[in-house]
This record gives sequence, C-alpha cells and structure tokens, in this order.
Amino acid sequence: MISKETIDKVFEFARVEEVIADFVVLKKSGANYKGLSPFTNEKTPSFVVSPAKQIWKDFSSGKGGNVIAFLMEHEHFNYPESIKYIANKYNIEIEETTNFSQNIDKKNEIESLYIINKFALSSFKENLNNEASSALEYLTKRGLSNEVINEFDLGFCLSNGTSFYKESKANGFKDSYLEKSGLIIFNEGKVIDRFRERVIFPIKSLSGRVLGFGGRIMKSSQKIAKYINSPESEVYNKSKVLYGIYESRQSIVKDDLCLLVEGYMDVLQFHQNGIKNVLASSGTSLTEDQITLVSRLTSNIVLLFDGDKAGVDASLRSTDMILEKGLNVKICSFPEGEDPDSFVKNNKKEKTLDFISQNSKDFIEFKLSFYDEELNDEDKKVEVIRSVIKSISKIQDRLKQEIYIKKCSQILDIDEATLFNSLNIEEKNNYRLNKNRKKIQKSSLSVIQKEKKIKKHNHIFELEKQIITILLKYGEKEIAYEDTIASEDDNGEIKEESKNIKSKVFEKIFLDLQQDEIEFAHPPFQKIYKKLIEIYNSQNEFSYDKFINELDSDLSKIATDILIFDDKHSLHDWEKRNIYVKKIGSDLSQLVIETLFNLRRYLIDARIKKLQEINKDKNKDELLQEVMSYSRLKKVISSKLNRVV
Ligand code: GTP
Ligand code: MN
Repeated sequence: MISKETIDKVFEFARVEEVIADFVVLKKSGANYKGLSPFTNEKTPSFVVSPAKQIWKDFSSGKGGNVIAFLMEHEHFNYPESIKYIANKYNIEIEETTNFSQNIDKKNEIESLYIINKFALSSFKENLNNEASSALEYLTKRGLSNEVINEFDLGFCLSNGTSFYKESKANGFKDSYLEKSGLIIFNEGKVIDRFRERVIFPIKSLSGRVLGFGGRIMKSSQKIAKYINSPESEVYNKSKVLYGIYESRQSIVKDDLCLLVEGYMDVLQFHQNGIKNVLASSGTSLTEDQITLVSRLTSNIVLLFDGDKAGVDASLRSTDMILEKGLNVKICSFPEGEDPDSFVKNNKKEKTLDFISQNSKDFIEFKLSFYDEELNDEDKKVEVIRSVIKSISKIQDRLKQEIYIKKCSQILDIDEATLFNSLNIEEKNNYRLNKNRKKIQKSSLSVIQKEKKIKKHNHIFELEKQIITILLKYGEKEIAYEDTIASEDDNGEIKEESKNIKSKVFEKIFLDLQQDEIEFAHPPFQKIYKKLIEIYNSQNEFSYDKFINELDSDLSKIATDILIFDDKHSLHDWEKRNIYVKKIGSDLSQLVIETLFNLRRYLIDARIKKLQEINKDKNKDELLQEVMSYSRLKKVISSKLNRVV
C-alpha cells in the first residue's frame, strides 16, 4: 500500500490544471480554464477546470471530480496507479507500507514479475533497434512504420537461446521469478529463452503495465508454432487481456466503439492506417472477462474476422455473451482469403471504414444470412430460428428485444406472436440460470438513472442541496445570530431569553438539524452531510479535492457538480423556484438561518400532506389534531422567516 504520507504529499503538490494540461489543451477563462472535452468529440469547449477548487467538470459527458478522478477516467488508472502517476510527475518519492492483511510473498511475486516484464520489454526493444537483426526488416516488410513499432514496443528475442537469460542474471533477477514469468524455460538443468528467435509483441494492461508477451517466428515453418505466448502467471491471465487495450483505449472511448479482431497484426495494421479503436482476442474465443474489460470503455462492439467457418462459429458464440452483458454487437466478415490486416493494407483507411459500416450485420441478419441454406430445409430452419431467439433472449433491454422480434418476423415471414411465445420459453430457461445475476444488475442502477430519480425536483431537494453547498463552501466560517434560549430559573420556571450567539456555520447547521431530528430525505445528501460534519469535527484542514476523494464515485460527482456551478447559476435557479434566499456573501448568517427555516417549513408541509394521504382510515379527530399542531408550527416558522427576510 502507498503510505498516507505519500498520498498527502501528492495532494499537496498536484495541481489539477497542470496534470490535465498534459492531456487537454486548456485556455484561461476567467477564474477557470476551459478546453475541449477529452471524452467526447465536441467542437465548442465545455470542459472546465477550477484551479481554486482543484476540480474539473466536463459538461458534455457529465463527468467530473478531482485530479485523481481525471486520471481514472482518462487514463483508466486505478487509484494507486493514479497516485503513482502524480508522484512520478512531481518527483515525489513513493513510500509503500506493507499491509499485513495481504499475503506479502504473493505481492512481492506480482511486483517482481512486473519488474521482470518491464526489463524484458526494454531488452527486446533494444535488440530490435540495435542489432543487425532481420526482425526490424521483417516488421517493415509487413508494412509497419517505426512509429507503430515504437508505440507498441515491439521487440526481438535473440536467436542463440540464452542471451536473454544471461542478461537477466547480470541484472540480478532470480531464477525462480524468471521461471514464473515464463520468459525462461528450465528443463532438466538446462535453461533456454522461451521467445528465442521471435518477434515480440508485449501484452499490456489497460494502464500500460506489461503482463506478458506474444512471439512470432519470422519464417514459415511446419515444425513449430507460428505464435507462442507467455504461460499463465500471477500477472498474465490470457482470458482477461486484450491485445492493444493500452494503445487503443482512448480512441475506443472517443469513438464509443470497439473493433474486435483476431490477431496482433490486425491491430497493428489498423493503427498503422489510422484506425485506432481496435483490440485483438489473440486467436482465442472471447471470454466474459474480456467483454467486461471492453465495457469499461464502450458498450458497442463490432466483431471483425476472416470468413472461414472457425471464425464464424467463434464469433457466434461471442455474440450471445456480449448481448448477455448488455452490450451491442455487430458482426463483419471479410472476403474469402482476407483478414483485417490484409484488407486495410490493400484498401487503406476510408475504404476499410466504408466496408465495415456497409457489411456490419446485427446478429439476426448475420445468423440468417450465414445459415441461408439451412433455411430452405424445414427441420433445419426451426433450429436456426431457435438459435436466433436464443440470442434475443439474452438481451436485457425489453424494447430492443421487441425490435429484434419484429425484424426477425419480417425477414422470416413468421407471426410475431409465435416468436414472442418462443422468446418467453427461452427467457424462462435463462431466468432459472440467471436469477442471481439479474438481481445484481437491477440493484446497480446507473448514476444517471439515480440522478433522474432524485431530480424529480421538489423544494426539499433544493434545500438539502443548498445546505450541502453552504457546508462545502462556508462550513468553517463564523456567523453571529440571535437566538432564543430557554432556561430554568431558581424557582423552576422556564424563561426565554434572546442571546447573541457566535458559532461556526457547520456547528449551527449540525446542532439545528440534530435538535429537530431532521435527516436528509435524499440519501446521497445525507451521506455527504455526514462525511462533511465528520471532517469539520475532526478539525483537520479542509480541502475540496481531498474531501471529494473520500467519497465514492456517485457522491463525488454530486459534490463536484455542486462546487463547480457558480453562485449566480444557483441563485437563478432558486428564484425560478420561488425560494427566496439572500445573495450569498451579503450575509452568511442570514443565508444559513433562512435555509434551515425553509427546510423545516417544507418538511412540515410534506409531513402534513403525508398525514392526510396515508391516514385515511385513522380517527378523524386524531388526524386533525396532528395536522393542526403541524400547521401551528409552520406558522411560527413562517413568521420567523418573515422577520429574518
Ligand atoms: P500473421 O500470420 O502474422 O498475419 O498472423 P495473423 O494475425 O494473421 O494470425 P492468424 O490469423 O493465423 O491467427 C490469429 C491469431 O491467433 C494470432 O494473432 C495469434 O494470436 C493466434 N495464433 C495464430 N497462430 C497461433 C499458434 O500457432 N499458436 C498460438 N498460441 N496462437 C496462434
Ligand atoms: Mn495475417
């Protein structure tokens, strides 16, 4: 684990505008910086960075947060990777603390494997460039430019079979780790470089770590495999990686589309020709984990493969899996004898993109056209239809299902009702299998859905938001106000006394809400509120970006949104909703007190309404009493409000 001191230092030194400037061209605009969104293809800048608050907001995609959130969104780093990236940029030394709950040996092994792989990459790369190897010639002959060769860190492992081993030993790597990495094969006392005499394709993670390697022979041979890969290890799991993910990730996000091919050369040749949203499954059939990996970047996949039978079978299997994961999938097969590599080499970018867009079929069109012959045979036809319905049953979205059923009905000239009927049967089957999975999906409503739910605006939502805003912006400011305090005198009589009181904003809010036992009606606000009060009470210095960092992603988005909107904007909204609030800054005490009163007033309103709605069968008198007492309370509050306003 990275030590707390390192993390603190990172937050102390990192400037969000400096970190982002490495990825986005920023221009000063008032107190903020503005630029084109790196997450969409917009033409007018709506990406805003606030140096004062150390946060950013992308209005075109809705994303936002602190500097860490930016690196996580843009570079797809995880948290520690983001911290490390910044530490590196600002020359901050990274202190790692050992976490005793983790298996230290295993952690060391993983780290060691990463280090060996990184070392191997640079050694192989050097071989390609320095030696008089035929490897560079081979790659150039296959049409790759130095630029692509460099970007993908292609390399070469020398032919004699031991030079990589020797080099590793000279650099202090232990045999046990070299064996686990698979780079060296130990056999009956003999050692040999696994990738000897092969061109090397490093396989990277989303964040650019080297997980393993692929190696290709340069001459065709019947005796040895054309390609070999690193064996499975603590860091390389072939069912979880996709070749090109690091180099293609940003284009996939921007184009909101992932082209999926079979081989290393397909990926490289596409990049070479300027099509960069492409990944390869490296010859194996697609796995669930790989689809999950893609789904972090886009929900649209086009499968590209050569038109042989094996390719079709594999991609049909992949199709159902992709649909099941809730992603959209199309299939594009290339003409006999061509693969994406050869096609793009011969036809270049525009024609290739045209070909893909004209020949991409959704799975129904694809299955039906592929099984064209079978459709003439009544028995086989049933099988084909069943398989199409099975695919449709994997789709989670009801509307999409209906569209596909309609389409299927038109193409095959079969009654829609019949198709729906068999869809139901398939779904019942799936249901038994997927009971748990569906449950999980339902419970994880997307952020947008949640926000939409919240945003069914009402006054209470606005007021709670206002309280959070005040706490975020002015929590530690002092305010002075007049309050009546009840006390008992010596004779036991209750006396009310007006007093001038001074307190911090957060104390006033906290005490008032506690006194009235008010909980926020909107759980995200309640969570942010609790966290804020906790921080203020701990008397640590408050900083926006640190605070946002401690919230989980949904909450941090809400907090960022609150912070980034300037006061003018929120005032404007408020007036529209007929909630009158003094201008922020003119008198903070008044703002705090009014907001709290207003919240009480609307809560009481809501309470009265609820009482009237729910308790229809309740004793009328009792209900009336309750409503009356609330109404009285409301009056008192309203009168107080009037006095303040
Ligand atoms: P080139 O012949 O270099 O153009 O490769 P390709 O990308 O056209 O390869 P092909 O279509 O033959 O295979 C697609 C992918 O399957 C390759 O990129 C490899 O990842 C994998 N593959 C191909 N041959 C072998 C093999 O012999 N062994 C293993 N393990 N994988 C292979
Ligand atoms: Mn090929």
